[in-house]
Amino acid sequence: MLSLNAEELQDLKQTLKTRVPGHGLPRPFYHRELLYQAELEFIWRGGWLFAGHSCQIPNPGDYFLYEVDDDSMIIVRQDDGTVRAFYNVCRHRGSLICEAGEGSVKRFICPYHQWTYDRAGRLILFRGMQAGIDKSQLGLQAVHTRELEGLIFISLAQEPRDFDAAAEAIASMVRPQGLKHASHPQYIRANFDQYNADDTIDRIAEELAEVTARSATKWAAQGLAITVNHTGLAEFPDPDRNIWYAADRTPLLDGYVSETMDGQQIAPLMGAYTDPDVGTLRVRTLPNLWNHSSCDHSVTTRITPNGLHHTNIRMIWLVDAKAREGTDYQLDKMLPFWLLTSEQDWEICVRQQRGVNSHAYLPGPLSTYKEYNLDRFLRWYLKEMSEALG
Ligand code: FES
Repeated sequence: MLSLNAEELQDLKQTLKTRVPGHGLPRPFYHRELLYQAELEFIWRGGWLFAGHSCQIPNPGDYFLYEVDDDSMIIVRQDDGTVRAFYNVCRHRGSLICEAGEGSVKRFICPYHQWTYDRAGRLILFRGMQAGIDKSQLGLQAVHTRELEGLIFISLAQEPRDFDAAAEAIASMVRPQGLKHASHPQYIRANFDQYNADDTIDRIAEELAEVTARSATKWAAQGLAITVNHTGLAEFPDPDRNIWYAADRTPLLDGYVSETMDGQQIAPLMGAYTDPDVGTLRVRTLPNLWNHSSCDHSVTTRITPNGLHHTNIRMIWLVDAKAREGTDYQLDKMLPFWLLTSEQDWEICVRQQRGVNSHAYLPGPLSTYKEYNLDRFLRWYLKEMSEALG
């Protein structure tokens, strides 16, 4: 728990007020350790975090670790098929229990003095301890967990915020994609995101209208809905309504059926799809998930803070569970599109971080045509932080 004295609290509140509306964040937002700790407390330990995909842990005992700053969590498939999460901290003297990032276990054995926990986190064995110690009080500390159509979310909050509205909004959109039954092996020209209010010429607007009308009729027959039918990015998040989650389906440009380098299908259809023409599905939850899915593959990006100036990024590619690498799909056809795009994004972020590190950095105005989602995100972030600080 973060503990703030009155002066620190006041200082943070003042800092949150320093953003000029419509501009980027001032330099202290990128440098203040206290602000970073407050973000960890209120944003990262306050909300729901995407931890990973169900297909990473298909069988009882399969687990993976998810580390958020100093906290390490074990996400493990239970014997009854559900998923639970625990802090990866021994109840004896606090040693990290699991070191390997993923694996499969019958039970968890702490390497220090071999206290042993079952998959449900119960302490089942310890040696060399005096009589009278109640094992039932010394199980692993549980973390709130929700599994949603192949996506696993955790909340480190004592009392997590509501998840049901997000679950409702995301589940029906994601279900046809079949992420629940996916497996995981080992941008930009395809969609209408690149066009914005200032550069959508009549020809592009007409093209989008045609594609939308055609897709809407065809998709309706498959039970799929278009939720975004304009150029540019779908507006997200909505700070005024506390919306931190979104799932949208949009058409691709004519000639494209998948977000691949040449727009062609490169793997078997996923989930319930019967036709490659399903556009692209996007799922986003704040603060740390975005997922782009085409008819034949799905790509997830998870971001996690790892110190004031570092972010860990994990990307996961998913295909239908029955698809076989080398026969049904080739990685060299599947990976480049999002890998190249993401690497370009990361380079931009590194350069951006170096720029805002400078004492000369001053935030400039954001474009209302192209950076409206950044403005929404900053307003969401400031609102979350202000409300948490009271
Ligand atoms: S610290 Fe884990 S068994 Fe002692």
